[in-house]
Amino acid sequence: MMQLSTMAASIKPSATLAAGAKAMQLRAEGVHVFDFSLGEPDFPTPEHICQAAIRAMQQGKTRYTPAGGTAELRSAICRMYQRIHGVPFSPDQVLISNGAKHSIFNVLAALVGPGDEVIIPTPYWVSYSDMVEMTGARPVFVPTTEDQQFKMTPEQLRRAITPRTRLLMLNSPSNPTGTTYSREELEALADVILESHIAVLSDEIYEHLVYDGVKSTCFVGLRPELKERTITVSGVSKTYAMTGWRIGWACGPVPLIKAMANVQSQATGCPNSISQAAALAAIEGDQSCVEKMRRAFEERRDLVYERLSRLPGVSLVKPTGAFYAFFRIADHFGRTLGGRRITDSVTFCEAALESSHVNIVPGAPFGAEGYARMSFATSREEIEGGIEALARFLE
Ligand SMILES: Cc1ncc(COP(=O)(O)O)c(C=O)c1O
Repeated sequence: MMQLSTMAASIKPSATLAAGAKAMQLRAEGVHVFDFSLGEPDFPTPEHICQAAIRAMQQGKTRYTPAGGTAELRSAICRMYQRIHGVPFSPDQVLISNGAKHSIFNVLAALVGPGDEVIIPTPYWVSYSDMVEMTGARPVFVPTTEDQQFKMTPEQLRRAITPRTRLLMLNSPSNPTGTTYSREELEALADVILESHIAVLSDEIYEHLVYDGVKSTCFVGLRPELKERTITVSGVSKTYAMTGWRIGWACGPVPLIKAMANVQSQATGCPNSISQAAALAAIEGDQSCVEKMRRAFEERRDLVYERLSRLPGVSLVKPTGAFYAFFRIADHFGRTLGGRRITDSVTFCEAALESSHVNIVPGAPFGAEGYARMSFATSREEIEGGIEALARFLE
């Protein structure tokens, strides 16, 4: 029996992917599952983007690209930040990776290690803490509550910073809560950061999926001094329904981007050449597909919020971004539902899947016991049917 490394032995599988696998098994048995577990748009990748990929293959763009991504795509990303956020980046400040998840890993690998602390406000995206632990650094959780709309206050941040803190991981709009920090709230956090020595990883992957006229903020653009210590992460997965293409990016100070490119070049060579051509077409092409999908998500958000709010013993903050509803289920702990005694979010979600075929993700792996996450990146029919099934489950 081969012995696993300490790092591999300590890693948990992604909880969202695990929930998806369980549902797949039920489906294989012929059961209809209302699947609200996965964090990806249900729309197909827009046609003009697919065509660009086909053209890239026909033109022979099938070889290694520079380790950090093609010059064309890096320049296009710079133009996009200037156009949308008024933030100037130069191409040597941009690293293209195999999805934003890979970008985040590269940031952590290049920036933190044993003895370092990384501040993560909870609830957080499941992968953050495991990725931090993979580097040997220690995640320091800052719990936020429903009452504060799951947003960390400047005072909380100030209290969490120690001499060992290297990095804050921020995510707005947020997976799993769907809340979006306002510009003013982020400015207040920025001021605390600038009083200290720490860096910020701002995960803005859901930046274009915002509702009710809410605007997402590019954190690094808030104060000129942030440029030296902010890494902005985003990608095409959520905005352009391109999860399988695996293209994300990180923008930050040149020495850090160089170090990340070295890590990446040794680990994976370069991001996929064809996907980079497709991402270029996504960013530079007609943007009407983005608004069309955003509007569809907003309508589903309205439906989900209205229906979930009506469920007994359930409460939630209205999501203003991303495509998740994060709702409180703790009032049901201690009950017997679907023939099972509910003791925590994991048993709640298991019982909901087994007895009502509703697949939602427990709050525990997001650092928020007492909650569950429902992705509304699925059709209205599924949403209506699934929440009805959930209502029966709760009776
Ligand atoms: C908050 C957050 N960051 C990053 C990612 C990574 O996206 P990708 O690797 O597909 O670009 C996700 C995907 O679920 C996410 O929810």
